[in-house]
Amino acid sequence: MKFKHFLTVAGMALVLALPFAALANEGGAALKHAEVNTADRDQINRGLTVFTEVCMGCHSAKYVTYKSLIDYPEIGLTREAVDELRGDKPITSGLISDLSPEDATVSYGKVPPDLSLIVNARRGGANYVYSILTGFEKDPDGKIPDGTFNEYFPGHRIAMPDPLGWLDHDEADTAVLEAQAKDVAAFLTFIGDPHQNERHAIGKYVMIFLILLTIVLYLLKKEVWKDIKH
Ligand code: HEC
Repeated sequence: MKFKHFLTVAGMALVLALPFAALANEGGAALKHAEVNTADRDQINRGLTVFTEVCMGCHSAKYVTYKSLIDYPEIGLTREAVDELRGDKPITSGLISDLSPEDATVSYGKVPPDLSLIVNARRGGANYVYSILTGFEKDPDGKIPDGTFNEYFPGHRIAMPDPLGWLDHDEADTAVLEAQAKDVAAFLTFIGDPHQNERHAIGKYVMIFLILLTIVLYLLKKEVWKDIKH
């Protein structure tokens, strides 16, 4: 291979590798991996149940973009239910349980943050949420009292009381609690960015198109320059 050709191929490889390098560079502390799949409507649905039955006792989800949620009838959310989720309407549909953040607020010294965009707002996203929910442990240094130590929370001392009961679960429950934590992480990922599935699907075609375009342009360049003596 001529050096020039080598440069062209190397350049192409670099351009193609860049997006993957960007994806790989997630960084951050060693969070647990949540394995969420926002294309799995059943998982989202189970996550919705955990969210409404457990998390909404303290957290709100005021900023869910309800048009986009209603676009997915499989999730089973009517306009009414999304209004309730957003706190725009009193809870009557039976789809959302009627614990209100106001009722439970705030014996914990800190306001439970709104979770509509938490996955987008925190480094590690779904992995962070999953890790927090399954990160309640005994403080290895024995300084932070049980129930307020969380392996993955910055500073380790968290004001949220262990919502899934992770700290005193027995072995038999581990899988169930892990599944709940994953499901709710998937739900929060979904509401944070409901259109990502379409985007991923489109993204594949864009990548294929770019690769084909690169090949075509390379062949064209060879054709145009073939009669020129170097
Ligand atoms: C009993 C009230 C309560 C319940 C129930 C609860 N939370 Fe929390 N949550 C809190 C409080 C209070 C904080 C603030 C913690 C802090 O800043 O120290 C918090 C913080 C969080 C954070 C960390 C936010 C950050 O700033 O990084 C996440 C993530 C979270 N909650 C998710 C959940 C999920 C998911 C559920 C349902 C499975 C849930 N919470 C249930 C009270 C609660």
